[in-house]
Amino acid sequence: MLNISESKMRNLIFILSLCHVFYLMQFYPLVQPGELRDFQINEDSDRMMRYLHKYGYLESIADMTHQKMKSAIMDFQQFVGVVPTGNMDKNVSDMIKLPRCGMPDIQSSRRVRSYGFLGPNIWQDRRLTYRIQNYTDDMDKESVDNEIQRALDEWSRITRIRFKPAKHSYFSDLNIYFSSVDGGGEILAYAYSPVNGTIVLDDDELWTKNTNSGVNLFQIAVHETGHSLGLAHSDEKTSIMFPIYQGYNENFKLNLDDIRGISALYKVNPHQRFTLGGNNERLCWDPKIDAIFSSPDYYIYVLKGAKYWKFTLNFILVEGPRLIRNRWQEVPDNVDAAFTYWNNVTYFLKGPYMWKYIQDQKYKKSQLIDYGFPGIPNDIDASLMWSGNGKIYFFKGSEYWMLNPQQPPFMRVNETYPRPISRWNGLPNNLDAAVGIGGTSYFFKDGSYYKYDDLRMKVQGGYPRSIATDLFGCP
Ligand SMILES: *[C@@H]1O[C@H](CO)[C@@H](O)[C@H](O)[C@H]1NC(C)=O
Ligand SMILES: *[C@@H]1O[C@H](CO)[C@@H](O)[C@H](O)[C@H]1NC(C)=O
Ligand SMILES: *[C@@H]1O[C@H](CO)[C@@H](O)[C@H](O)[C@H]1NC(C)=O
Ligand SMILES: *[C@@H]1O[C@H](CO)[C@@H](O)[C@H](O)[C@H]1NC(C)=O
Ligand SMILES: *[C@@H]1O[C@H](CO)[C@@H](O)[C@H](O)[C@H]1NC(C)=O
Repeated sequence: MLNISESKMRNLIFILSLCHVFYLMQFYPLVQPGELRDFQINEDSDRMMRYLHKYGYLESIADMTHQKMKSAIMDFQQFVGVVPTGNMDKNVSDMIKLPRCGMPDIQSSRRVRSYGFLGPNIWQDRRLTYRIQNYTDDMDKESVDNEIQRALDEWSRITRIRFKPAKHSYFSDLNIYFSSVDGGGEILAYAYSPVNGTIVLDDDELWTKNTNSGVNLFQIAVHETGHSLGLAHSDEKTSIMFPIYQGYNENFKLNLDDIRGISALYKVNPHQRFTLGGNNERLCWDPKIDAIFSSPDYYIYVLKGAKYWKFTLNFILVEGPRLIRNRWQEVPDNVDAAFTYWNNVTYFLKGPYMWKYIQDQKYKKSQLIDYGFPGIPNDIDASLMWSGNGKIYFFKGSEYWMLNPQQPPFMRVNETYPRPISRWNGLPNNLDAAVGIGGTSYFFKDGSYYKYDDLRMKVQGGYPRSIATDLFGCP
C-alpha cells in the first residue's frame, strides 16, 4: 500500500509522538521507582491523554509533547485540588478512574476559579417545563419524579426560575432521560448548556436515593441541571458543580460557590429571602449605615458602629455582625466612609484620618486625609470609586470632590472642586455611604438607597427604595 491516507498519516504521527512521550518519560521521574513495576505505562498514559482531552485540559492529542502532557496534568491537578506536580503518578491515574460528569472541566482554554459559566446563553423565561422521558429500573417511578423535582427546586430556592412538569410530551424546556452511556463507572451523566435542555443519566449506573450505595440521583440531578442552567464545572470541591462525584451527602445543600454562580446568571428569588450565614437583625431594625465597600474578592462589606457584615455582590448575607477591629485592627468604630480602589487597596476614613488595607493586611500607617488626598476635607460623608471613569469621589454635605490618583506628578484635587451634589441628577445631600458594584453605583441615606446609572449619569427611576427589604433581606 503506497497510498498512505491522511488519517493513517495522522495516526502514525500520533503514535510517533506517543513514543516520544514514552521516551521522555523514561528519563523523568514520573513514577516512583517502586511503583514502576506494576505501572502499565502505555495503557495508563494513553487513557490519561484521552481523559485530559475529553475534559478540556488538552486541546488536541495529535501533536503531543511531554511538556503539553505535563502542563495538562498540572491543570487537572489544580482543578481537583491536589498539588500540581505534573507527574503521572498513582494518585493522578487513580483520580481519572473516579466517577464523574461527562462535561468538560475547561471550556475553550478559559481558566475558571471556583464557579464558571458554560456559554453566552441563559434561559430568558423564568417558567421552565421539564419532561422525564423514560425511567430507570433501579428506582420506582414516583421516587425518580420526586428526586428530580427536588433537584430542580434547589435552584429555584435561589433564583426566580420555576420548574413544572411539561403538560405536552413534546414541548418541554428540559428533557431528562436514562440511557446507556459508557457502561458502569466514569461518566455518570451529562447535560448541555442553555437553551438545549437535554440531560442524560447513564442507565448503566445504579441509581439510588438516601443511601451510600450506588449513585445518588438527586445530587447528580442538581449537578446536571446546574449545567442546563448555564453553570460550568467548579474547582471548589464542596460545590455541587465539582466534576467528580463526591458520594452521597445526607446533608446536601448548595454551597456559597453554587449560589454565587447561579445568582450571577439569574435574578435572585426576592420572595424567599435567605442568608448564607450571619444575622441581619440589627440591620433590619436600623438600616442606616456608616460605610460600604466592595472587596477585590467580590464581596460587599457594610460597616455600622463597631460591626461589619459581609454580603455577596447580590446582597446575600454571608457573615456578620463581626467586630471591625478584629479584622482591620487599626480601623476605629463609626467610620465616615470606605472604598476600594482598582489597585485593591481599601481605604477607611474617619475625621481627619485614613487607613489603608490590602485585604486584611495593613498597607501603611494611618495618614491625615489631607496628606494622602490633598484637597479632600475631613469628616466626609461618603466615598466611592466611580465605575463611570475609575476616579475617586468624596461627598460631604451638599458638595463633592473628585480625585484622580493617576494624575502625575502629585495628585491634587482640581481647583474646580467642590461642586454641588445636585449635578448628580437626583442624589440627595448629606449621604451616609456609597459603593460601586459592576456598572452601577449605590448611594445610601438613612434607610433608603439610590441606584445610579453610571452610563446615563442619573438616578434610576423608582428610587429611593428601602435598603432593608431590597438589600439586607429583611422581612
Ligand atoms: C490524591 O491525593 C489527595 C491528597 O493530595 C487525596 O485527597 C486524594 O484522595 C488522592 N486521590 C486518590 C484517588 O488517591
Ligand atoms: C430512553 O430514551 C433514550 C432516548 O430516546 C434512549 O436512548 C434510551 O434507550 C431510553 N432508555 C430506556 C431505559 O428506555
Ligand atoms: C442538544 O445538543 C445535542 C448535542 O449537540 C443535540 O444532539 C440535541 O439535539 C440538542 N437538543 C436540543 C433540544 O437542542
Ligand atoms: C486585585 O485582586 C484581584 C482578585 O484577587 C486580582 O485578580 C487582581 O489582579 C488584583 N489587582 C491588582 C491591581 O493587584
Ligand atoms: C482643572 O481642570 C480643568 C478642566 O478640566 C483643567 O483645564 C485644568 O488644567 C485643571 N487644573 C489642574 C491644576 O489640574
